[in-house]
Amino acid sequence: TTPLRQLAAAKGMRYGAAIAGDALQKEADYANLLARECSIATPNGELKWSATEPQPGVFTFTAADAIAKFCQNNNMAMHGHTLVWHTARPDWVPYPPTPSSFSIFERHVRGVMGHYRNSTVLKSWDVANEVIANSPEETDNPYGIQRGFKPEVLRDLFLLAASVDPNKKLCLNEFGIENGGWKAQQFLKTIEYLKNNGVKIDWAGFQSHLWFSTAYPFDATGFSNVLQRLKDMGVKPVITELDIIIDTPFPATLAQLDQMVADGYKRFLDLCFAGGVDTIITWGITDRHTWIRQPEWMPQIYKNNPQYQNYLRPLPFDQNLQRKQAFYAISQAF
Ligand code: XIL
Repeated sequence: TTPLRQLAAAKGMRYGAAIAGDALQKEADYANLLARECSIATPNGELKWSATEPQPGVFTFTAADAIAKFCQNNNMAMHGHTLVWHTARPDWVPYPPTPSSFSIFERHVRGVMGHYRNSTVLKSWDVANEVIANSPEETDNPYGIQRGFKPEVLRDLFLLAASVDPNKKLCLNEFGIENGGWKAQQFLKTIEYLKNNGVKIDWAGFQSHLWFSTAYPFDATGFSNVLQRLKDMGVKPVITELDIIIDTPFPATLAQLDQMVADGYKRFLDLCFAGGVDTIITWGITDRHTWIRQPEWMPQIYKNNPQYQNYLRPLPFDQNLQRKQAFYAISQAF
């Protein structure tokens, strides 16, 4: 069976996954799977603020460097996730950033990006993650950026990143924008604002933690329109954190569930590739290591229905690292 990275490469594309750094050290079979299948990888948490700068001005890169080394040894690129994200920040970091707290952010961006400036493995950064409002009540600006997060401050973060390392691709990463709805429109407005204000923004990151259900359709047209708008603006869409959660009503059997997940991958990736996407990163590679099985992140419907928790099978390989229908669906899409 041809590895995904090879199928992708034949089309000039890339397949990759988020890497759990602790498991990478402990599980040889997991490491081998990643090396075999991936041409790009994102550290699951090792580059987040709480990992890289736990105390003000004190930087540690041991865990992230170990992943970078693994990537280098296996001819994989590494995607830098993420410079600014409200969820993974130490208590002493204020959010959102403001002109008066900007120096804290500047020290962080200089410290972290600076460490990888000469890296030939790390080639791209999520400069900001999840900064778009989820609904009109959550914003106070014309671009839909979260309340209190001034557009000029977001602009300055990107300008700063480009000045610290002009050679990396810079990405604005977001979730919940795959249906072309209100939030997707704000995401596009924000990108347009940044472009109009002299910002280098190379990638539009679609997290794509997708929810599929027989009860509601996926808005293919909405998504394709968003991809088209990005093409018009000259910004590359990248799928940064893809996984597929099955919502209620739950299918009767695991086999049906796996087929639904696979159909979801196929439908979504066909639209991606038709719309100019060339890099697909899944948020993990095996159901053994998926964030949606972690208690803090498990979807509420699964917490409410513990008997269905074995339905949390969002990735191409199962817990024993065997290929699932989702793997074959991704293969076919490439
Ligand atoms: C998740 C990790 O997978 C978890 O292990 C961690 O506890 C919390 O963060 N959107 C993102 C990712 O941008 O950084 C998140 O990763 C998943 C949602």
